[in-house]
Amino acid sequence: MKIAVINGSHRGKKGNTHIMVSAFLKGATEAGAEVVNVFLSEKKIDYCKACKACWFKSPGKCVIKDDMADIVSLIKDADIRVLATPLYLDNISGLLKNFLDRMMVTASPYWGKDREGECRHLTTEMSPQLVMIANCGYPERSHFQVISHWIKRHARNLNTEVIAEIYASQGALLGIKENEVGTIVSQYLKVLETAGREIATNKQLTNETITRLEQKFIPDEIYIQEVKKYVDGMLGAAR
Ligand SMILES: Cc1cc2nc3c(=O)[nH]c(=O)nc-3n(C[C@H](O)[C@H](O)[C@H](O)COP(=O)(O)O)c2cc1C
Repeated sequence: MKIAVINGSHRGKKGNTHIMVSAFLKGATEAGAEVVNVFLSEKKIDYCKACKACWFKSPGKCVIKDDMADIVSLIKDADIRVLATPLYLDNISGLLKNFLDRMMVTASPYWGKDREGECRHLTTEMSPQLVMIANCGYPERSHFQVISHWIKRHARNLNTEVIAEIYASQGALLGIKENEVGTIVSQYLKVLETAGREIATNKQLTNETITRLEQKFIPDEIYIQEVKKYVDGMLGAAR
């Protein structure tokens, strides 16, 4: 079992997204999975030019010379691809979107209809099952509605399926290690380790793990007050 993570956080190894991914991969590794963890923030990936040379002139090869070809060869035999991102303006990050556009190099240019009668790319050798991991700054889980809808559409388009969606609101708390909040976050990260183990073992999460992953860290009102104090402090220091 090989799991490839694509981390689309602009903050890379310092990001809250990485805190989630690290815990998930710890569990997956313990369960015997081989893991690859790609930080897009450390890579040079230009925009897709939409020239379609990768389909019609040099099939499977992109004309742009940057880090993309190395990433494709690193993740091409993965059984599961994890897309990890901070929520940016209700969506995935620009880094991740840019990477996914460039992944068209691996899609078949031929289309076929799915069971619902909608067109999609025909299966290629690269249609791993998908796991979505995201965190956001706001406290409500409703902010993930767009990503949750999008990842299912994306999987359909690539002729694969989503096997898990893991979302953490109140993302500003993920890095806290002290006091009661630190204890709550460390318990949450243990559940994420369990999630990694379950995905590596059974390619699915148990209902218990799904429920535990959906718990908020602290009540929304307290979170909002704490964020206000933080903003006041930062602006005060800047004056
Ligand atoms: C450009 C930008 C846009 C953002 N948009 C949202 C948003 O729409 N909703 C939200 O809840 N948080 C938003 N955030 C907050 C991030 O999702 C949050 O800080 C997250 O923890 C960052 O993860 P990271 O540390 O891995 O980058 C935004 C942050 C940035 C920098």
